[in-house]
Amino acid sequence: MASSADTFKPGPKLNRFLSRPRPMLIGGKWVLAQSGKTFEVLNPATEEPLAAVAEGDREDIELAVRAARRAFESGPWPRITPSERGKLLWKLADLLEQNLEEFATLETLDNGKPLTVARVADVPLAVDLFRYMAGWATKIEGNTIPISVPYAPGAEFFSYTLREPVGVVGQIIPWNFPLLMAAWKIGPALATGCTVVLKPAEQTPLSALRLGELILEASYPPGVVNIVPGFGETAGAALAAHPDVDKVAFTGSTEVGKQIVKAAGASNLKKVTLELGGKSPNIVYGDADLKTAIPGAASAIFFNHGQCCCAGSRLYAEKNVFDKVVEGVAAEAKKIRLGPGMNPKTEMGPLVSQEQLTRVCSYIESGLAEGAKTVVGGKRAGNRGYFVEPTIFVNTRPTMKVIREEIFGPVVAAIPFSDPEEIVSSANNTVYGLAAAVWTRDVSKAHRLARQLRAGTVWINCFNIFDAALPFGGYKQSGWGREMGHAALELYTEVKAVTVRL
Ligand code: NAI
Ligand code: MG
Repeated sequence: MASSADTFKPGPKLNRFLSRPRPMLIGGKWVLAQSGKTFEVLNPATEEPLAAVAEGDREDIELAVRAARRAFESGPWPRITPSERGKLLWKLADLLEQNLEEFATLETLDNGKPLTVARVADVPLAVDLFRYMAGWATKIEGNTIPISVPYAPGAEFFSYTLREPVGVVGQIIPWNFPLLMAAWKIGPALATGCTVVLKPAEQTPLSALRLGELILEASYPPGVVNIVPGFGETAGAALAAHPDVDKVAFTGSTEVGKQIVKAAGASNLKKVTLELGGKSPNIVYGDADLKTAIPGAASAIFFNHGQCCCAGSRLYAEKNVFDKVVEGVAAEAKKIRLGPGMNPKTEMGPLVSQEQLTRVCSYIESGLAEGAKTVVGGKRAGNRGYFVEPTIFVNTRPTMKVIREEIFGPVVAAIPFSDPEEIVSSANNTVYGLAAAVWTRDVSKAHRLARQLRAGTVWINCFNIFDAALPFGGYKQSGWGREMGHAALELYTEVKAVTVRL
């Protein structure tokens, strides 16, 4: 756990960033909140303050939306060529890559994840996303459409579609992958020519604010990207309800997702895309290669401390291998080194906040109270920092909270199955539908299951494979729409049908 020897001392570059209250980015300028308020962000490994950040609220959102509207309608942005939009995104990717180490460190300090992970996953994935979207900027095309018009015999028409940016986009993101979630949101918005007001999560606003500096360095016109840190109930709610925002893109809890839909409906029927919770089934068949399935199942839940919307939190293992799988995953769990993310030996850091620590521990307690048993883990680790032991439950029932609800921590329930039909209905027996995985050597079985599982992503003999080119999003209450891939561009554009009489 965190010891004083692990306390990190930022170098001069980071110190510049952390030592003064971080202002927000509105209309190309760094400004303090209208209220003058700031809030503290903590290092979750030590519970110590890390930085103070301007606390955006309704008035700041108002200014940011106005700046985004101005940038969308006038100024250089609407006239910029697609090629130029692509170049700017590529430049942003290059700048991010040049500052990889600083971003990885910020992410680790703010979120708690191991630096070794932020370096190879969070930051490179964000770089790659911007590059992928840079390529799309020049490829956003309409169609020419032959039409018949039965009530206008003899008349000739020429029809085509235009794909136009949806407009001013409000983007509200969570704390589990702070920089990457900002990239998933900002990338397609900028590729399509939208303008943005981004509200980072109150727990982890730092990497988005640093990204704002790079956005200015890349020479984006003022107001194209505005970044307003603040709390969900104030700044977030104001953005979702704003009548001059054309679309809101949200990632977070299903509960807040529903509030976003209400706010959009009650204000201006802005378009809404949502990436919400999950309770992903991870199915290991007796014929799987257990040498990969076991570490795969462990990483499916323990990666990012289980703080993944797609975490493999329901581990179904066929009866004939159930004990072996549970023992194997338990052995993996025991090997995981918990500690502050800045320690190079750390494999699992703290949860992001006291709120999440309390939430995850109360789920563990509810599992125990309902009669489930832990094979390994089951409590907070240490007493400083928000660490939780990797935990495996057995003896669960489908009605238990730990089976039905998203825990968002390093807690997995292992469940035996025998009937191949029953496993499909058990796996699909959830309000969520974000991801699922199947481990088997039987190719037909794997593909059959891939069709039967009601989830936006199905992994076969792997887990947590993400790519900027692959669409990601949910069935059922896991959300609306897809992020990444070309699917994302459709949700940042409107289609206009133009018809000319010849
Ligand atoms: P949350 O849904 O409250 O927060 C996510 C984002 O929404 C943050 O930026 C927050 O400021 C904002 N927000 C909160 N209330 C809002 C409102 N009324 N209007 C507009 N924006 C609002 O999630 P929280 O409280 O951080 O975590 C609670 C649970 O949500 C987690 O335990 C997990 O189950 C789930 N979650 C899912 C995520 C995902 O990737 N799908 C990410 C984070 C949390
Ligand atoms: Mg919340």
